[in-house]
Amino acid sequence: MLIDDCSSMLESRISIRKFRKATIPDNDINEIIEIGTKAPSAGNCQPWRIVVVKDAATREKLAEAAWGQGFVAKAPVILAVCAVPAESKERYSERVAVRKKLEK
Ligand SMILES: Cc1cc2nc3c(=O)[nH]c(=O)nc-3n(C[C@H](O)[C@H](O)[C@H](O)COP(=O)(O)O)c2cc1C
Repeated sequence: MLIDDCSSMLESRISIRKFRKATIPDNDINEIIEIGTKAPSAGNCQPWRIVVVKDAATREKLAEAAWGQGFVAKAPVILAVCAVPAESKERYSERVAVRKKLEK
């Protein structure tokens, strides 16, 4: 049953910090991105960009940016999910204005 599948998936998931030196097929990467970007977002703005990083030098820089967590660079592929605040602001600028007022 679907609920059993969801439960066992949620119960068995863990964070992985050791990676095989495998090549991930582009089809798999695209599928992961397609499923991931079905996540809900406020007003369905989807204010994100996903950068697929395979290049070793860039993975090293990302590991450094992640407070020097070396395992980050060892992943064969990194999906860098980047927020685009300007796109949320376009729709929710009123809320931003209220927040700024409250912060004063
Ligand atoms: C918002 C967020 C940030 C996290 N940042 C890191 C991180 O910088 N480094 C890391 O190794 N794990 C990070 N984690 C993973 C958590 O440490 C991990 O989910 C937690 O220890 C539970 O382990 P599990 O995911 O295997 O169940 C992060 C998790 C979340 C939700």
